[in-house]
Amino acid sequence: MDYSPELVKRAAALETPVLILDRRLVRQAARALLQALPGIELLYAVKANPHPAVLRALAQEGCGFEVSSVKELEAVLALGVPAQRLISSNPIKPVDFLRRSRDAGLRTFAFDSRGEVDKLAQHAAGSRVYLRLVVDNTGSEWPLSKKYGVNASEALELFTYAKGRGLEPYGLTFHVGSQCLNKDNWANALYLAGELFTVLARHGIGLSMLSLGGGMPVRHTKPVPSFAEIGEVVARAVAEALPPGLRLTMEPGRALVGEAATLVTTVIGKAARGPEEWLYTDVGVFNGLMETVGGLKYELRTERSGPPRTYTVAGPSCDSFDMMFQGITLPEVEAGDRLYIMNAGAYTTAYASSFNGFGPPRVHLIG
Ligand SMILES: Cc1ncc(COP(=O)(O)O)c(C=O)c1O
Repeated sequence: MDYSPELVKRAAALETPVLILDRRLVRQAARALLQALPGIELLYAVKANPHPAVLRALAQEGCGFEVSSVKELEAVLALGVPAQRLISSNPIKPVDFLRRSRDAGLRTFAFDSRGEVDKLAQHAAGSRVYLRLVVDNTGSEWPLSKKYGVNASEALELFTYAKGRGLEPYGLTFHVGSQCLNKDNWANALYLAGELFTVLARHGIGLSMLSLGGGMPVRHTKPVPSFAEIGEVVARAVAEALPPGLRLTMEPGRALVGEAATLVTTVIGKAARGPEEWLYTDVGVFNGLMETVGGLKYELRTERSGPPRTYTVAGPSCDSFDMMFQGITLPEVEAGDRLYIMNAGAYTTAYASSFNGFGPPRVHLIG
């Protein structure tokens, strides 16, 4: 969403913190991504922003969904999305989720360990399983390669074990890291997956699906590769490296909602501390801006103009961890002013808690 006089006018009538979310932009993002990735099914990663209006808009655009909890599953089932359009890519899932998924007809699950195979065999017998591979996350601003995934060398043993426990070897998946600025990561991961499909087929493990995970970036303060640029890299690698006829899916989260919303906050106080000038806002790390602790930098706008000043910006709670930006420049800002945190539709309200009594931003829908 662009900063504009209309946005400022709209926000003036609203209490802060508030996330102004334009459903038309969500739909536009889905269409643009589908166009950039022909032949690839979009399964929206609900975790990025589970607001029902977002889910409804994406279901209307023909997206399926990636879900990892009972609550996410119930939210998409409530919209009438068939279970065949759902997958679950968290390699370690709670038992209540597996049972509810099985009852609802969702039977396509990621895994990366023998323990998960045992759990799936017990609570979702006969499911289709796809293996999460570790791939290079260099150049992604929110890396996701530490917690999950196995090396390709472990794949045969794990699929053989899964088959032995009555599960159906189905596919592979990877995640290049969220907010990935390095389009080569997709190519490298696709070549790795391509080789593995061949090796596994030679050993009697015939797979038919590849999920390319998420990672498509949102515009913040650095240049990012466009959907089209990433689409070109992906199309080339798919054609060169993968066996024909695979079901190809992608699980974008951030890219479908990030640019559809602006987070509007009020400056609740100002202070000079040594050489630093501090601004305190009514949204902070705990009620919406969690990703700033991992270094994510949003573009901030103000209605003021004038020479730039350097600020540290912190949230409203008593906790010293509640500090979002250091060394950012803005025209001089006063207590009571609004700040506009641009392209903040992903992983903001979804992460927000009510720590210290400062609740999540309200969502104001437009479009
Ligand atoms: C398994 C899985 N799929 C998809 C996503 C969505 O990623 P992104 O928001 O970078 O598109 C995530 C994010 O954490 C994930 O863990």
